[in-house]
Amino acid sequence: MRLLLLFLLGLAVGAVGTDMIEKALQRKSAFPDGVMTVMGHQMKALGESLKQNRCTTSDLTARLQTLRLVANDIEPAFGGLQKDEQFGRYAGGLRGAADLALASPMTSCAVATAAVNKVDQACDSCHRDYRN
Ligand code: HEC
Repeated sequence: MRLLLLFLLGLAVGAVGTDMIEKALQRKSAFPDGVMTVMGHQMKALGESLKQNRCTTSDLTARLQTLRLVANDIEPAFGGLQKDEQFGRYAGGLRGAADLALASPMTSCAVATAAVNKVDQACDSCHRDYRN
């Protein structure tokens, strides 16, 4: 009887422990995943806008602004990489590309596409080195 109780207790502790570890892991990646997911959504929306020939400043600015603001949180979100200089350069490169896009008058779809492509390249540069 005692052995059975111990066994059941062991199972219960194991189950609770596993659950706690899983929750901790989820919490740990929620911030970086959230930052990337929001930026991914903005990039997708920008791409769709360009495809539909909606290329004016008013078509694109809100998306670019959200992306730009969220990009401020890239380093804090990836705590372990916060002091990694190359990672910081890539994050800064993205912010620079977004700033440039926000500052450029969107005089045509070609201009807008070039600006958004620069932002996209800044995403890719970092992913090439840091995304598994
Ligand atoms: C400074 C580095 C860096 C920049 C810049 C960057 N990313 Fe990421 N991104 C990462 C890393 C690292 C991962 C992998 C994260 C992980 O697996 O937890 C990632 C993952 C992602 C994911 C997958 C998220 C998930 O939950 O699996 C998406 C979507 C994404 N990035 C979109 C973007 C977009 C769009 C941009 C540009 C606007 C961008 N990223 C710019 C580093 C970066």
